[in-house]
Amino acid sequence: MNNFNGKIVLVTGGTSGIGTACAKRFAQGGATVIIAGRNKERGKAIVEELNSISQFKRYNSYVYMDMADRNSIIEAAKTIDTKYGSLDILVNNAGIYPVSDPLESLTDSSLIEIFDINIVGMIMLTKAVLPMIKKNHGTIINNASVAGLESFTSGQSYAYAASKASVIKFTKMLAKQYGAEFRTNCICPGIIETPIFKSFNEEKFKEKIPMKRVGKPEDVAAVVSFLASEDAAFVNGSVITIDGGQSL
Ligand SMILES: NC(=O)c1ccc[n+]([C@@H]2O[C@H](COP(=O)([O-])OP(=O)(O)OC[C@H]3O[C@@H](n4cnc5c(N)ncnc54)[C@H](OP(=O)(O)O)[C@@H]3O)[C@@H](O)[C@H]2O)c1
Repeated sequence: MNNFNGKIVLVTGGTSGIGTACAKRFAQGGATVIIAGRNKERGKAIVEELNSISQFKRYNSYVYMDMADRNSIIEAAKTIDTKYGSLDILVNNAGIYPVSDPLESLTDSSLIEIFDINIVGMIMLTKAVLPMIKKNHGTIINNASVAGLESFTSGQSYAYAASKASVIKFTKMLAKQYGAEFRTNCICPGIIETPIFKSFNEEKFKEKIPMKRVGKPEDVAAVVSFLASEDAAFVNGSVITIDGGQSL
């Protein structure tokens, strides 16, 4: 278990799936965890769980943030600055994966929503908390997807794949420009069992994976924890697949 004692972590999309697993992992490591998302009820329930996991009396909290709404992102960043005055680790995890449509039936509203949530909001939030991350020589982990890699056949998910390729590019630009101040890395999960899938056919999915199993949110959280830790002190600009070998 990595030690995050004294660190303040923001996990977007901390209200479900991979984000919740990351939040729990950081809480176990002694961090103060802020989870962001739109679902206030789930957010508050998860904070209760984090408080019960934390070894120390921490000020874990939930902050409302809609990645598709610039004002909400700016407000949430201000709230964090006012309440904590500091941020060490940013996990840009929130994202959507709508049903894959052929290009001919991709609607403008779906295209815009996917880009707004998966990449535009991520860039806006990163910009808003940049002073805090710089000041603390913190670290950023962005959640892309194997769908954003060239080697992966991302079916008909045109907008999703393109938005996730943008996350990879954004990661590399941050890593190159700000490497002397903070580290930025990117993860590319494969098939991870979370509510993002409207229907989840494990039997069908696992056949495509050399390890013959799908991933768990905890498999991803373990890599995020490593990337955020001192063990990854010289890891910057990396794009790490977590897919059981699916994209080979
Ligand atoms: N599961 C996989 O197989 C897989 C594979 C590759 C990459 N990923 C990526 O992993 C990330 C997490 O996905 P997941 O699998 O954990 O799915 P999930 O369980 O559906 O979680 C998605 C999270 O994103 C948040 N979110 C969605 N729209 C939002 C918005 N407009 N504003 C703020 N937050 C929003 C949700 O929070 P609220 O509902 O509270 O807003 C939720 O916490 C996504 O970026 C996804 O693309 C997942």
